[in-house]
Amino acid sequence: MKFFIDTANLDQIKEAQALGILDGVTTNPSLMAKEGITGAENILKHYVDICNIVEGDVSAEVIATDFEGMVKQGEELAALHPQIVVKLPMIADGVKACKYFSDKGIRTNVTLVFSAGQALLAAKAGATYVSPFLGRLDDISTDGLHLISEIRHIYDNYGFETEILAASIRHTMHVIDCAKIGADVMTGPLSSITGLLRHPLTDSGLAQFLADYQKGN
Ligand code: E4P
Repeated sequence: MKFFIDTANLDQIKEAQALGILDGVTTNPSLMAKEGITGAENILKHYVDICNIVEGDVSAEVIATDFEGMVKQGEELAALHPQIVVKLPMIADGVKACKYFSDKGIRTNVTLVFSAGQALLAAKAGATYVSPFLGRLDDISTDGLHLISEIRHIYDNYGFETEILAASIRHTMHVIDCAKIGADVMTGPLSSITGLLRHPLTDSGLAQFLADYQKGN
């Protein structure tokens, strides 16, 4: 399972990268705004800064909602750095743009996916990644994990190579449940990754080992 961090915060990206387990970064316009990154020029520069920290894929989202606009913005984003993956919304023009980029060998991440049918369309259009938002489904009392299972089942039925990028992850149990289902990638906040480290028996066991070592020295 690949681990992506879902943030535009450079310090958090550096912290996750330093752990040695980071495979990429996802961003979206809201995450950029949260870090105070505004204006096209600053946003493009920020993507390059992120690419210079991580070794893996960096999803950069188009703002246009029409096919021509998405193609123009996506090509500009893809030209920024070889690690960039063009993030496209799951709307009709997003599907068309996904097919356009996939035919050109430009990698894509189809975002804002909330149903198995949408995920099927993304795979048909040759998406590199599909991003079902499981936390946002859970927020409205719908089973986000069930959607991930449905997509896994459908993709396995037909051998689709599109990777299931479980997005809108909120906590460590989401990560573990997605790993059990067979999601290819998780993306979540730093806390959903570092939370996996914690166990009280690890802490108490280590404290005991260190205390026993001190007794013998
Ligand atoms: C995915 O690429 C999105 O950026 C993200 O996971 C959305 O998460 P949220 O529902 O916590 O905003």
